Amino acid sequence: MPKIRTKFVCQQCGYESPRWSGQCPQCSQWNTLVETVEERGGAASSRLPGQTVPQPITAISAEGFARIPVPMDEFNRALGGGIVPGSVILIGGDPGIGKSTLLLQVSGLLADSGQTTLYVSGEESVQQVKMRADRLGIAADKLFLLSETNLNHILSQIDALQPQLVIVDSIQSVYLEDLESSAGSIGQVRECAATLLRLAKSRHIPMFIVGHVTKEGAIAGPRVLEHMVDTVLYLEGERFHAYRLLRSVKNRFGSTDEVGVFEMGESGLAEISNPSQAFLSERLASATGSTVAVTMEGTRPLLVEIQGLTTPTSTGLPRRTANGIDFNRTLLLVAVLSKRVGYKLGTHDVFVNVVGGMRINEPAADLAVAAAIASSYRNVPVPEDCVLVGEVGLSGELRSVGHAERRLNEAAKLGFRRCIVPRTLRLGKPEHLGLEILRARSIGEALDLALQA
Ligand code: TYD
Ligand code: MG
Repeated sequence: MPKIRTKFVCQQCGYESPRWSGQCPQCSQWNTLVETVEERGGAASSRLPGQTVPQPITAISAEGFARIPVPMDEFNRALGGGIVPGSVILIGGDPGIGKSTLLLQVSGLLADSGQTTLYVSGEESVQQVKMRADRLGIAADKLFLLSETNLNHILSQIDALQPQLVIVDSIQSVYLEDLESSAGSIGQVRECAATLLRLAKSRHIPMFIVGHVTKEGAIAGPRVLEHMVDTVLYLEGERFHAYRLLRSVKNRFGSTDEVGVFEMGESGLAEISNPSQAFLSERLASATGSTVAVTMEGTRPLLVEIQGLTTPTSTGLPRRTANGIDFNRTLLLVAVLSKRVGYKLGTHDVFVNVVGGMRINEPAADLAVAAAIASSYRNVPVPEDCVLVGEVGLSGELRSVGHAERRLNEAAKLGFRRCIVPRTLRLGKPEHLGLEILRARSIGEALDLALQA
């Protein structure tokens, strides 16, 4: 194979150099030179043979999009209904979160359903992967393992095996020998991904690429690849909690913002098909400081327990702690409770916790958070069968939120009987929900409804 020529290109100003240097001689930025493959024979001439031509839209068949369903509903959901042939799917996440485990399980299921699947690990030996597979109960004839980091060798093995699905775990561990930079550098990550992408497209082999989220954040992590691949899924979760969310953040073949929910256990990741029930399973009846919020994960409503605890401050400065929810949002709600409802929280420590290691990022949970704090402060429980939905404004007003019906439907499904909502919340036919809808204009009115001793 002719040696590929590479050059170093500054990511800030575009300066090109045949050699690497720590500082760009043109714009003086540090660590911006990234190794890049030089286009052979110039971009224009290389495109001449086999040019593509415009076609009438009516003459194009979209048949290539017949999806391969994954026999794992939560995974399928995140993918938007299955694997599109020739598509490249990036699975990102922190090291140790469960990416390899999930993909090995998916490989096993797909191999069982008849797809010749090649699982390439650049991080573990085939024995290590086999041991894990044994633990997960995976033993499929059509699942092939390869431990290899040289991408050209991986490509020739793909040629030889002709698999119907390829998993590359991880993109940071493979390298192209034509590039000087080491595996895991931006240049390597980008060129390796581009090479895999070309293969996937030309042979119609769907491919999963694992990308670790690196400490430095964007550098050489999945972010660099997001624009290149077809679908980006992130596996998220808290280190000390078993729940894992598989979230779609980009999908050329489906809607984004879909989430699959899993639980990490003895035998790998188990699907949680009713996450709301799971998140509420350990809730204590009639405990003070506990409320239930209905948040949206994409198009999926999830009920989560919010806990609030207030205790008199023993030192001079009151403490505020927030787990699973934005800290500044918590400060804002504490301020609103002090100023608009008259609670003396200036002399109390306030702790807020979202149960199960979930993270809530939407203001629709404001009312539930404020009510959890209020319930602990007043030492009055919120009725067990009551959920709270609504955004809290700085004047103490309650503001409407989106997806109202989906949220309330989910609450009704799980046996809740009452829902406190903003007065302005628009609902189609609330009587069908089987929920008593209690409307409030302000946080004060809502707390009066929620905390009737
Ligand atoms: P892994 O899939 O190796 O993570 P990643 O590929 O994202 O780096 O997951 C490793 C963690 O998962 C490890 O801490 C052990 C845990 N685990 C289980 O709890 N149960 C299991 O059945 C398996 C296979 C792993
Ligand atoms: Mg791994």
